[in-house]
Amino acid sequence: MKKLFIETLGCAMNMRDSEHMIAELNREESYELTHSLGEADLILINTCSVREKPVAKLFSEIGVFAKSKKEGAKIGVCGCTASHLGEEIIKRAPVVDFVLGARNVSKINEVIGKKHAVEISIEFDESAYAFADYRTNPFRSMVNISIGCDKQCTFCIVPATRGDEISIPSELIVQEIHKSVAQGAREVMLLGQNVNNYGRRFSASQESCDFTQLLQKISEIEGLERIRFTSPHPLHMDDRFLEEFASNRKICKQIHIPLQSGSSRVLQEMKRGYTKEWFLNRCAKVRALAPEAVISTDIIVGFPGESDADFEETMDVLEKVRFEQLFSFKYSPRPQTAAAEYSDQIDSEAASLRLARLQARHTEILDEIMDAQAGRVHSVFFDELKDNGRCAGRSDDGKLVFVEGSEELLGTIKRVRITKSSRSALDGVVLEG
Ligand code: SAH
Ligand code: F3S
Repeated sequence: MKKLFIETLGCAMNMRDSEHMIAELNREESYELTHSLGEADLILINTCSVREKPVAKLFSEIGVFAKSKKEGAKIGVCGCTASHLGEEIIKRAPVVDFVLGARNVSKINEVIGKKHAVEISIEFDESAYAFADYRTNPFRSMVNISIGCDKQCTFCIVPATRGDEISIPSELIVQEIHKSVAQGAREVMLLGQNVNNYGRRFSASQESCDFTQLLQKISEIEGLERIRFTSPHPLHMDDRFLEEFASNRKICKQIHIPLQSGSSRVLQEMKRGYTKEWFLNRCAKVRALAPEAVISTDIIVGFPGESDADFEETMDVLEKVRFEQLFSFKYSPRPQTAAAEYSDQIDSEAASLRLARLQARHTEILDEIMDAQAGRVHSVFFDELKDNGRCAGRSDDGKLVFVEGSEELLGTIKRVRITKSSRSALDGVVLEG
């Protein structure tokens, strides 16, 4: 059997793309996954290009991989950086055998046989392609509901690497979830750059279905217990969607609402389509309808022209919403984006100071939230066995929970009383009955 080494960087969508590549490769020839570079017959790097740093590291990494690989092993560069650099990757690193874009995943078996193949068209439509099956975790499935992104946020390279937004037909989504449930999954994570924009455009005619209707359809699947999704866009969070989120028992009460900036002026420069007030109003609505819900977010600091006063607006939203999870980034100018051309770029050191302040305050808030967890009871879905006689799972609201336990807990949902907390995880005991 051939061996495959695959490195996956970036977002959940990339993780799913990696699973799709593994599945498609196995249609033609059996591959076994390996963590050892030297053993691999095929090395895939599934890249992210949202920020500059990982892109800069790509070429040194290719160099290291080329030195450690065995004679005759192939190297493929896939994902968003493959889409945006294309042929240049092979020019700079001829050791790379092929380049496969983030919107061309289904062509993996075509490129693998052609020396220096480059497949990166963002016009390519694989929204109705029935991928072969492979899942890293049998208890939890990830399912794409749309490809690409129709927004033009001025900082973001994703529309240039993943192309226009096309929704995947709802029957295909439902079929795929049914299949995963039959194989033991009880939880699904629905993926898209803008999940609640679902249904605006399909590649073939299909009866109309928006995200709220899709959630309703999916929640009818018997045996499926939990539904998660990432990420919704604040602009499309209408009341109907939030009411479904709050009232549907199967939808986990954890929601990622990417803020980006708390300043309405900066949000306008980012072309996000909402204001600080709208964002706060949507979070208040989530809290009113589902008080137990956890809200997480993404924030960019140091966007061109961000003043001290703008940054204070971001800090103000942090205080008001008290996000449980925060993914925060220093603005990174990206090729093919409007903001990279703005003349008022922010000094990198000033941006670092803002980032440090934001993160320090968030850590304090997080500590307060986690300190209050001891004694609480969570419903936990166990899906991973650890070596030290412990079992790991996620609470409905997304917290990582560890208990003493073995295989029989895997794939089950149990009530757990929390005994101890840290910043990133909880310890607890399973309650009987
Ligand atoms: N639509 C996706 C966003 C994908 S990019 C979603 O809603 O999850 C993931 C995150 O990376 C963005 O939310 C943003 O916070 C961050 N990001 C994107 N472009 C960036 C840039 N040029 N510099 C810094 N952070 C960026
Ligand atoms: Fe990027 Fe904005 Fe789409 S952040 S992925 S352009 S919603």
